[in-house]
Amino acid sequence: MADEARDTLRVLGIAGSLRKGSYNRALLRTAVELAPDGMTIEVYDRLREIPPYDQDQDAAGQPEVVLDLKRRIREADALLIATPEYNYGIPGVLKNAIDWASRPPKDTPLAEKPAAIMGASVGIGGTIRAQLALRQAFLFTNTHPVQKPEVIVAEAAQKFDAELRLVDPAAREFLRQLLESLATWTRRLRGGA
Ligand code: FNR
Repeated sequence: MADEARDTLRVLGIAGSLRKGSYNRALLRTAVELAPDGMTIEVYDRLREIPPYDQDQDAAGQPEVVLDLKRRIREADALLIATPEYNYGIPGVLKNAIDWASRPPKDTPLAEKPAAIMGASVGIGGTIRAQLALRQAFLFTNTHPVQKPEVIVAEAAQKFDAELRLVDPAAREFLRQLLESLATWTRRLRGGA
């Protein structure tokens, strides 16, 4: 493998919304566009297919869609999560995916995985509380989210245009800095920088 290919960071991006016009998926698309040199972001697209977590089903054998999610997390160098905020927490569909991926705890691909968190909401809180809730879940899974910058896109309807492009210059700059920070963090965690 060429050095360049080996050095490229592969990031798995997950947006926690199933909505067609989702601001969080739009935020993830913007991240793909702004990814720095040496980083590629694959957008996860099977969230809707993941069944509600059932410990009996887990014990009987995890469904193919969960095994695929876990394989994609394992193969990624880092995660990038765009979370909406539902009732001050993360949406059930996102938590559900994390719950599946966290099992069994002794070989979850979430453990030791570098991650970055961001979010967009139509309210003025901009997903602050949901991001905190996600950090709390990542304590148990031993996932390592970057701390700064926090990408909090409040009042999203004014930050995206009609085609769901992120047009707010400050938000774009914070997102660009988050991706740089994720690259540095990921390389540092694997002992390369
Ligand atoms: C919301 N919304 C919301 N917004 C917020 O800032 N804090 C909150 O606690 C909530 N709670 C909440 C609960 C539920 C059930 C829904 C459906 C919505 C509004 C939310 O920010 C808005 O719908 C976003 O547009 C959702 O993200 P996507 O789908 O655009 O990515």
